[in-house]
Amino acid sequence: MTLYLTQDEVKSVLDMKSTLEAVESAFREMGNDNIEMPARVYLHFDKGVLIAMPAYMPGLGAAGTKLVTVHPGNRQAHGLPAVIARIVLNSPENGLPLAIMDGTYVTALRTGAAGATGIKYLSREDSKEVGLCGLGVQGRSQIMGLMEVRPGVEKVKVYDIIPEAKAAFVDEMKATYPGVEWVVAESAKEATQGSDIVITCTPSPEAFIDGAWLKKGCHVSAIGADTGTKRELMTSVITRCDKLVVDFVPQAFVVGDFKAPKDEGVITEDDIYAELGKIVAGHKEGRTSPDEITLFKATGLAIQDVGTAYKVYQLAKEKGIGATLAG
Ligand SMILES: NC(=O)c1ccc[n+]([C@@H]2O[C@H](COP(=O)([O-])OP(=O)(O)OC[C@H]3O[C@@H](n4cnc5c(N)ncnc54)[C@H](O)[C@@H]3O)[C@@H](O)[C@H]2O)c1
Repeated sequence: MTLYLTQDEVKSVLDMKSTLEAVESAFREMGNDNIEMPARVYLHFDKGVLIAMPAYMPGLGAAGTKLVTVHPGNRQAHGLPAVIARIVLNSPENGLPLAIMDGTYVTALRTGAAGATGIKYLSREDSKEVGLCGLGVQGRSQIMGLMEVRPGVEKVKVYDIIPEAKAAFVDEMKATYPGVEWVVAESAKEATQGSDIVITCTPSPEAFIDGAWLKKGCHVSAIGADTGTKRELMTSVITRCDKLVVDFVPQAFVVGDFKAPKDEGVITEDDIYAELGKIVAGHKEGRTSPDEITLFKATGLAIQDVGTAYKVYQLAKEKGIGATLAG
C-alpha cells in the first residue's frame, strides 16, 4: 500500500518546526557518517532537465528519492510551473514505496530549515538585525526558519530588484510577524550593512554582496546560488569570513559562490572549516567568539528532502490524510 499526498495535503501536516527537527536530524546523521547519498543524476532534455536525488538514513529508517524537473519555459508554453518535484519514499525493510508526495513544498520548507540550522549553530544568539536579499519563495521560507531559531530578532531589512516584490513582502510579513520592524532597503548594501545576520536567496547570475559591508560578528546564510551559473557572494565575502561552513563540500565547489573564488586561486577545499553536519553532530564547534564572521553556504541535499518527506509521511499516517494506492 502506497500513500499518495498532494501539495495541499503536505501543506496541511508540515510546519517549519517539524521541518527543522527533520532537517537537523538529517544533518546530525550526515555528521556521524551514517547516511548514503550518491551524487545527483541528471537527464538533459531539449527544454529542461530532470534531477534524481536519492538518500538513505539508516538511523532514521528513511529512504527515498526526489525527482525534480526544471523547465524554464513551462509557464508560457504549457501553463505549468517551471519546477515540478515528487518524492518517493521506500521501505528500507522490503523496498515497497511507502509514499509518493508532492516535493515542491517540501523543498521550499526544507531549504528554509537548512538556512535556519546554519543560523542556529553559527549566528550570535543575541542577533537583532537581519538583512534579507531575494523576496520570493525562499525569502518567505528563510524568514519562517529564522523566526523559529532566533525569535529575538527585532528588525529585518528586505531587498529585491523588483520594487513591487518589496511592498508585497513587507505587507505580508507585518501581518505574520507584527512584533518585528520590517524595513524596505533601497540596495543590497543597505540591507547588509550593520546586520547581525545576512540572508541571500536570489537566482542572481552576478555576485552582489561585498565583504566590506559585513560587520564583525555577522553570520551570512547564502542560499540562492545552487548551480555553477548563479553567484551571490563576491570573493571579498569569502576572504572576510573567519569560518566557512558548507552543507556538502563536493557540491559547494560547483556553485558560483565557491567555484569563482576557487578558479581565482583564492580558496581551496582546505579553507572550509566544516560541513554543517559535523557541527550539528558535535564533532566541530560552531561559533566560538562574538566577533567572528561566519558563513553557511547551502546547496541543497537529498537527505533534507527524504528526512522531511519521512516526517510528512509519519504525520499524514497519524492524521489519516492522503489517498492509499493499491498494488
Ligand atoms: N540552496 C538550496 O538548497 C536551494 C533550494 C531551493 C532554491 N534555491 C535557489 O534559491 C534561489 C531563489 O529561489 P526562489 O524559489 O525563492 O525563487 P523566486 O523566483 O521565488 O524568488 C527569487 C527572488 O529574487 C529576486 N532577485 C533576483 N536577483 C536579485 C538580486 N540581484 N538582488 C535581489 N533580489 C534579486 C527576484 O526578483 C525574486 O523576487 C534560486 O536560485 C533557487 O534555485 C536554493
